[in-house]
Amino acid sequence: MKKVFGILLLALLLLLAACGEEETSSEDTGTDDAPAEENTEADEETEDSGEEEATNEDGISIGFSLDTLQEERWQRDRDLFVSKAEELGASVNVQSADSDDAKQISQAENLISQGVDLLVVVPHDAEVSASIVEMAHAEDIPVISYDRLIKNSEVDLYVSFDNERVGEMQATAITELVPQGKYVLIEGADTDNNAHLFKQGQMNILQPLIDSGDIEIVYDQWTKGWEPEEALANMENALTSNDNDIDAVIAANDGTAGGVIQALAAQGMDGEIPVSGQDAELAAVQRIVEGTQTMTVYKPIRDLAERVAELAVQMANGEEIETSTTVNNGQIDVPSILLDPIAVTKENIDDTIIADGFHSEEDVYQNAE
Ligand code: BGC
Repeated sequence: MKKVFGILLLALLLLLAACGEEETSSEDTGTDDAPAEENTEADEETEDSGEEEATNEDGISIGFSLDTLQEERWQRDRDLFVSKAEELGASVNVQSADSDDAKQISQAENLISQGVDLLVVVPHDAEVSASIVEMAHAEDIPVISYDRLIKNSEVDLYVSFDNERVGEMQATAITELVPQGKYVLIEGADTDNNAHLFKQGQMNILQPLIDSGDIEIVYDQWTKGWEPEEALANMENALTSNDNDIDAVIAANDGTAGGVIQALAAQGMDGEIPVSGQDAELAAVQRIVEGTQTMTVYKPIRDLAERVAELAVQMANGEEIETSTTVNNGQIDVPSILLDPIAVTKENIDDTIIADGFHSEEDVYQNAE
């Protein structure tokens, strides 16, 4: 009898332990080299402390490998992705490579050897990261290319915004204000496929105006690592080599726009020369209100992060993913989902960024009189 009772008690405890075994994520904030250890064992005997143990034996475990957390947006991406994935019962191990290819590869290697079910990758280098796909596939782990395309690989899915459209929006906003004149292009990182798409989009708008002689590109430079300091230095060069005689700047994102505006300010030209951006970073939106930046492109990150979290869980469960489009990455037509970006100027900040709760009204107008 005692024995039967003992077995029943054990069964009850096991049941309780299973219920208490919540999906715990082992994300770290991305500054570490070593990925946080996923718990793979040692959980069975912890009936009274199921919460602390991230076993996730039945749940899905996702590795999220980010190039960087430098721009404000990536922190948002990380947080929204992790919370949606957890809500869906998955655990996420987040790694940030600090813009270092070797580090991104070794972090991915670690995630793979920990046995994640799926990898979500924001590649630092569009080409180099193909090796991550290869390594993952060797272990039957699918890979989703997040926001940036991994080129020349058999990556399973690409989810991003329509990045060529982003570039078109930037150039449209600036050419509306400056239909004729001398243009400076401060582009993104050459290693990022998106930077090329943004430029392509800009050229779709600029080329006819260049051909007609209305616009002249007097300076055109990539920005190493998307670093604002690099953008600042490039913009200083653009100004010096043109004796400050320029009329407009197309900057590929808000970080680079910040560098550009700093260089313009040093010459007393901020607020005089239209400058584009992208990401709807708080500092940029404040500059728009203040009048030193003309526009930004708002990309509702929640839509991207949550969509990818849902798709990741579906894919890891072996479900078929339906996509309406494909993007060629040099090797295959990658099944793709491209979300819509939104151009934002002073006029529609309230109806877009603030209405969506992306930034609060108080924060946006903090420096406005
Ligand atoms: C992203 C931008 C971001 C940039 C720098 C691009 O790939 O699409 O939103 O500003 O990288 O991180």
